[in-house]
Amino acid sequence: MIPPDHLLSSFANIYQQPPTLIAYAPGRVNLIGGHTDYNDGWVLPVAIDRYAWLAARPSSSDIATIHALDLDESVSFNIHQLDDKIDIKNRPLPKWAHYPAGVAWSLQRNNLTLTGFDAALTSTVPVGSGLSSSAAVEVAFAVTWEAITGWQADRMSLAQLCQSAENQYVGVNSGLMDQFASMHGVVGNALFFDCRTLEWEPVPLPENVALVIADTTVRRTLGDSAYNERRAACEEAVRILSDHLPNITALRDVEVQDFETHQHLLPPVIRRRAEHVVRECARTLRGVEKLQAGDVSSFGALMIEGNASLRDLYEVSCPELDALVEIATSLPGCFGSRLTGAGFGGCTVNLVEQAHAESFAHELTAEYKVRVGKDATIWICQAAEGAGVIEWGSE
Ligand code: GLA
Repeated sequence: MIPPDHLLSSFANIYQQPPTLIAYAPGRVNLIGGHTDYNDGWVLPVAIDRYAWLAARPSSSDIATIHALDLDESVSFNIHQLDDKIDIKNRPLPKWAHYPAGVAWSLQRNNLTLTGFDAALTSTVPVGSGLSSSAAVEVAFAVTWEAITGWQADRMSLAQLCQSAENQYVGVNSGLMDQFASMHGVVGNALFFDCRTLEWEPVPLPENVALVIADTTVRRTLGDSAYNERRAACEEAVRILSDHLPNITALRDVEVQDFETHQHLLPPVIRRRAEHVVRECARTLRGVEKLQAGDVSSFGALMIEGNASLRDLYEVSCPELDALVEIATSLPGCFGSRLTGAGFGGCTVNLVEQAHAESFAHELTAEYKVRVGKDATIWICQAAEGAGVIEWGSE
């Protein structure tokens, strides 16, 4: 792993010393299993070769100073005074600093001691685009604090502590998928993850298939979106259905057939949300089987089916995402295309025959410009390894 040059030069300029370590944590796409993670369901994310990078050096105080290079902003907070979300001068923390402060808060609530540090942060995961820019930042800070303070936690617990930071400190009720994927990425593989049992296994991506990400350039903020509302609707569905299906504790437990029998009990909006989740869970299990059997065409068809469900039943798409998927699926070599992440803007992920990847990218942008009038950004990505730390220089 080679850190970006500007991270090292900026760190040296700001702090007049080199960092002692550099941490990286990837973003992710999700191939199938949309909005199933917080329903105890299954997901199939892929960590991608775009990363949050953090250079750090321990300080002898309780202060964490972080320079966000991409924003050209810096913040200093006391790692033991985090409840009020204020900096060392009692000013409210800027929103971006809630992620590192939340991680510090969550780690310490779980009895992991922390030391202060000077740090510089930069990221190649675009913000608010459905590629888990926030989870990448959280995970980068978690592994930095682990390395700098000197304790060791298992990867899954650390992912869960990052999720708590996002749920309880930042205030977004996200599931575990993003932090899980950023921690556990495996080169060349998707990650089949059971969000209830926390068991997971890598699923190799076929070599002749490219992972093409297309960004609508429409931005959303997870906290402001209807994300929390979607989660609440799922919980309400479980509450109503459990009167008749006593063994369920999450929508993951509801079989498609049982859902069909009892769906009339649910108010219309809740019924649509629950139907998406119940069928998407089944689709994810089928999809993984297809991918493991090397049947990319059937897998791609399930991606497209799942996207229609996210659009029509879960209602988390937008015209720009719909346009990207429609165009993509009409182009040669495209196996599957769907929105990735929470939705409401952001990116689509496309599985495209390698030989067609370049022309696919070109035609997708050209046609998107014609139909939507915007410039999509396209990345052909690799399935990457999860978060890590590089020891750097001497203390
Ligand atoms: C966001 C959340 C995830 C997951 C997806 C939808 O990325 O952070 O936990 O719920 O949306 O699948």
